[in-house]
Formats: sequence, structure tokens, C-alpha cells
Amino acid sequence: MVDFLVLGAGIAGLRAAMTLAEHGRVLVVTKEARWESNTHYAQGGIAVAMGGASDVASHLQDTLDAGDGLVDRAAAEILVREGPERVDELLKWGTHFDRNGETLLRTREGAHSVARILHANGDATGAEIGRALAAVAQSEKNIEFAEWMTACALLMDDQRVVGAELRDAEGRSQHVLSRATLLATGGAGQVFSETTNPAVATGDGLLLALRAGAVLVDMEMYQFHPTALSIPGVPRFLLSEALRGEGAHLVNAAGKRFMERVHPLMELAPRDIVARAMVKESFADGAKQPGKIFLDMRSVRGIQLTERFPGISRFLAEHRLRLDRDRIPVSPAAHYMMGGVKTDLCGRTNVAGLFAAGEVAATGVHGANRLASNSLLEGLVFGARAAKAMAIDSEQLPIPKTREDASSSQQWMAVSNVEANERLEAAIHALRGMMWRCAGLLRDAERMHEGREALKKISEEVCSIQNSASTSRVATEARARIEVSRALLECAIARCESRGAHYRNDFPQKNSTLERIHTHYRADGTVKLECFDAFAEVHRDEENDSKSSIQRMTAGAACGSVS
Ligand code: SIN
Repeated sequence: MVDFLVLGAGIAGLRAAMTLAEHGRVLVVTKEARWESNTHYAQGGIAVAMGGASDVASHLQDTLDAGDGLVDRAAAEILVREGPERVDELLKWGTHFDRNGETLLRTREGAHSVARILHANGDATGAEIGRALAAVAQSEKNIEFAEWMTACALLMDDQRVVGAELRDAEGRSQHVLSRATLLATGGAGQVFSETTNPAVATGDGLLLALRAGAVLVDMEMYQFHPTALSIPGVPRFLLSEALRGEGAHLVNAAGKRFMERVHPLMELAPRDIVARAMVKESFADGAKQPGKIFLDMRSVRGIQLTERFPGISRFLAEHRLRLDRDRIPVSPAAHYMMGGVKTDLCGRTNVAGLFAAGEVAATGVHGANRLASNSLLEGLVFGARAAKAMAIDSEQLPIPKTREDASSSQQWMAVSNVEANERLEAAIHALRGMMWRCAGLLRDAERMHEGREALKKISEEVCSIQNSASTSRVATEARARIEVSRALLECAIARCESRGAHYRNDFPQKNSTLERIHTHYRADGTVKLECFDAFAEVHRDEENDSKSSIQRMTAGAACGSVS
């Protein structure tokens, strides 16, 4: 039994743990080593308005504009107002942002009206913040880490989440009871074949939340970063928007810039606009096969590119490319989930005892298109807010009761079941390709219905493997990917318009009646388009005490079974 369980050790999880440690014992659980998260790979920086009221107002406006009519203004106001204090804390905790003497350096990225993005070690901002936060968290006597543990189920006591079932790499199961549980499990880029996200980003937290009765919102809003390195057979390594912030151009195969024709901000237009323009340009003049698009920094003067972008330069050098010498082949890739588990402004979901923060959560702050470098800020601000709410709410709820069978164990079947694992891997491969084709940058009803049918088959295949491998990590991740894909497809089918990251060839215009209307997806597969005011609604039944027994809601419920 711990007081607080935090699933995930990216920026939101670690920041939450720091506050929670003031109120009780905290266990932070990570699926791999503690640094392996989307936070670790965030390059460009953290957007923050540290220059007073007008700076904050302009950060708010840029956030609202990028979000294309779906941002919750109250959430965005919290983000930009509380951001500076949270970043001051980071500085106090030893985060080394890049400076010129005493002055913090700031860069600009897409859709920002001014340079307000702090960065660290050039292009390794997330890694530096993660390092600093982990270092202070490790020194807190109330915080413990459990690495290489997969959360495969939430423990329920009637309608309340009272902990999680964790499994280690050998498959040993442990039930950890907690007074409040935070999902900080990050995004789900791994549902697409082309993604900048690491392998751990499979959307596990979304499945856990759905099975516990939480609601997902805006799942159709997946951001595609315009510039991932595009070399066949090489992972889609992120090439930070800060490259364009420092002057890189996008050019077509003939070496011509094309963003001039598309948007007044050219290469620094909002991400969704740049990404779609790249796809369109690659098929210009009726080409059947896409032509190449390149990032060109060769004419940039006045900065030492290898010093400013050391991580990117190192990765490119492994592929015999240099920013100052070569045009770098790029294409868009799935990058960030704007939707997620519906929360109020303090990270509460509609399920008692369950909270969410960071990329897995949808506070409404990003709307239809996240402003560049607002994600690390969101993790900080809403991680801290969720922790406060967890401390307050858990005071009012009875302490979860231990049951004798709470640590009962099953074997981690797939470790010794090579054939089942191979079949699961093949199903996942098919799913990722299907999602890229059917629910990627350009969507339409026909392709999405095809995707829906293909997903049914993939789901049946995964369910048929379940008997022999239902408790493995790969099986847990496969079920999460299936449910996230289903949610994304269903929400994308339901939103018959183009807005922000969600672009439909068959509905290319915005529908003004859908402004501030959000898709709401529930575990039974239904989607409702509901107005924004419903967003902050939480339904918590605090009358439910320990009368009922603890149930184990398994991820297997994705295929219709609850054990
Ligand atoms: C980047 O460096 O381009 C990514 C930062 C972000 O996702 O906002």
C-alpha cells in the first residue's frame, strides 16, 4: 500500500510526485528505465512567458489561435499564467537552460508570435528537465521508483480506483493499493507506422482509463510533426521545429521553397498547416509517387549549427548528413496526442481515485492543434495541479483495504511463448500501417471505414492469441493500441469537418457549428459530440466506500472480457 501511485515518469509524473511527496508515500512506476518517455526526446524546448502580463497575454493568444476553435480558454489561461512559476521551480531544482551569461536564451517555433522558448543543451530540453526532476525526486525520502513494471490493470473498489496491478519483466504480478492514482503514461504515437515517439508510447494509460469508466475526448486530434528525418529503414528521428525557428527552409525536390505560397508565417506556420502543405507539395503536378521534401539550412549564417543542435547533428552524422552542407530529407510523422483522458482543470477524471496529467490527459489546453513546445509546460503545470487535487481528494476517501489475494500471481506467458509473440507483433505491424494509411494526415470516410473493418480483423486476431499470452507486456500494449486506434477512428469518422490536425478530404472546410464541440468516446465504442461545458464535468461518487470488493479490471476487457 502506498498513498499515491504515479504511472509514468515523464515531466507530468515527476512534477506530480514532487508535490505528492509532501502528503505521503509515492510510488512512481515506469515501463522501462525511468528516463524512457516522450519527455526525454523533447528537443526544441519549453514555451513560457516570463516577461509579465503582456507576454502572458500573447502566449495565450498564440495557444488559442493554434488550437483552431477547440482550446478551453480557462485551461489555456492556467497554462500560461502558472507556467512561469513552475519554470522558476525547475531552475531552483537545478535545470540548466541555455544562457548567454546570465540571460536565458529563447528561440521561436511555429505559430509563436515571439521567441519565448527556453531550451537546454541546444536540442535536448526534455532530457535535461527529466534529469533535473528525477534527481530531486530521487533525493525525496517519500518517493520510490519501480522500473521495468507494466501496469496491466487498475484495481477497482466498486466505482473507485484503488491502485493497479503491476507486472515486472519476468511476469511476476503485484497489486499495489493506493489512495489516489495518477495516469502520466504519455502518448500513443506507436499506433502509427510513422512516429517520432519511442517504443513505450503505446497508449496503455488510455486503455486503463477506459476500462475503469473514464471518458476519452478529442481522440481524432493527433498532431503530425512536419519534420521527421525521412530515410528508408531509419527511425523517424525528430528534427526540431527550432531548426526552422533558427532559419531553416523547406524546399521541394527542385530546391524551391513552397511555404511562401501557403501561409504568411511560411515555415513557421502552425504544424498542421506545414505538414499538410508538405504532403500536397510532394504530390504536386499530379505525381503518382510522392516527391521528396527537404529541410535546408545551408544558407543560415551567424550560428554554429553543431553547437546549437548537437544531438541532431550527431544523429545526422551517423547517416553522413550535415546541417551546414546537406539538404535533409524530411516527412511528417505522428508526434503528439492532443486528445486523451478527459479531466477537469485539476487532473480529476470522472472516476473517483483516478487522475491524469500530461499527454495522456485532455484538459482542453491544446484544442485541435498544440502550439509548439507547450507540451512540457502542460506536463509541469497540470502535473502539479493534479497532485494537489489528489492530496485533497484522498483525504475524503476511506483507505483502500488489502485483500488476501491482492498479490496473486499469474505467469507472464508470452515470455516463453515465442509463437504467440510473433503473431502479436505481426498484428501490431498491420495495425500501425493501417492507421497511417487510413487515419493519417489526410482522411476521408471511405478510408476510415476501411480502417474500421481492418481493425476488427486485427482485434479478432489479437483476441484469439490472448488465451495463450494474455498477460504479456506485448499483449497489453497490443490491446491498448487497438483501443486507441478504435477511439481515434470513431472520433475521426464522427467529426465531419476539417479543423486543426484533423483534415478530411471529404469535408475540407471548418464547420462553425462544431466550434467548441468535442468528441467524447466511451468504452462501449460510442462517440458523442458534446459541447465544451460538459468538459469540466466530473462525476464522483464519494458515497461509495469499502463495502464492495476490489475487482481487477483487466486490459483484456478490450476484447470484451473482464476477469
Ligand atoms: C520540436 O522540437 O520540434 C518538438 C517540440 C514540440 O513537440 O513542441
